[in-house]
Amino acid sequence: MPQKINDEIRKTGYKFFANYRAKHSIVEIAEHFGKPLVPWENGLVQTLVPRTEAAPNSYSGIYGLDHFPFHSDLAHWRTPPRYLLLRCITGYADVPTLMIDGHDLIDAVTLDILARAIFKPRRPRNGSVSLLRLCEPVEDVVRIRWDEVFLKPASRIGEVADLRVREWLSTRIPTALSLAQTHDTLLIDNWRMLHARSPILPGRESRAIERVYFEALH
Ligand SMILES: [Fe+2]
Repeated sequence: MPQKINDEIRKTGYKFFANYRAKHSIVEIAEHFGKPLVPWENGLVQTLVPRTEAAPNSYSGIYGLDHFPFHSDLAHWRTPPRYLLLRCITGYADVPTLMIDGHDLIDAVTLDILARAIFKPRRPRNGSVSLLRLCEPVEDVVRIRWDEVFLKPASRIGEVADLRVREWLSTRIPTALSLAQTHDTLLIDNWRMLHARSPILPGRESRAIERVYFEALH
């Protein structure tokens, strides 16, 4: 990973690559960028397509083609993936990926509250419930997690934080970036940025995006 890209990710929390390396697969690009993570069996590359029907405990099962709420990916994991890479197979300019900077969230709600806010996964994982903080210092950054579907407050301060975060998110105007052209590629710091999918408009049901998670960048 060139230093310039690393610097930009650190500065803004994401990096967009228009029509990037058309001859390369997402796996080749991911290995060039960093150390990919396989979140579940056969899950190195996940293909995201709009669905009207899906498992009831999934975003598609709950929201279908509507706007997905802001979240960080796998926020209910003790250590969520550090970065995620999205690559366009079939895209549309009017179905942007939306992002909100978690640093602004910390400024608004305060690190004190977010670091003391205890949440737990809405459903136990592997038979046990882990208690998770919305914010915690890890290595040389503050890791942020947020997911109103898969996490719920598990303390008084958690409940305070839950309300404040939701309220704050509802007032924000997000950064909108469209994976519109095939091979458009977006690298996101998943410990910092919250992201959301905008609604799938009629005629845009063929949208398809590939995703790979990372443990780290090179
Ligand atoms: Fe996501």
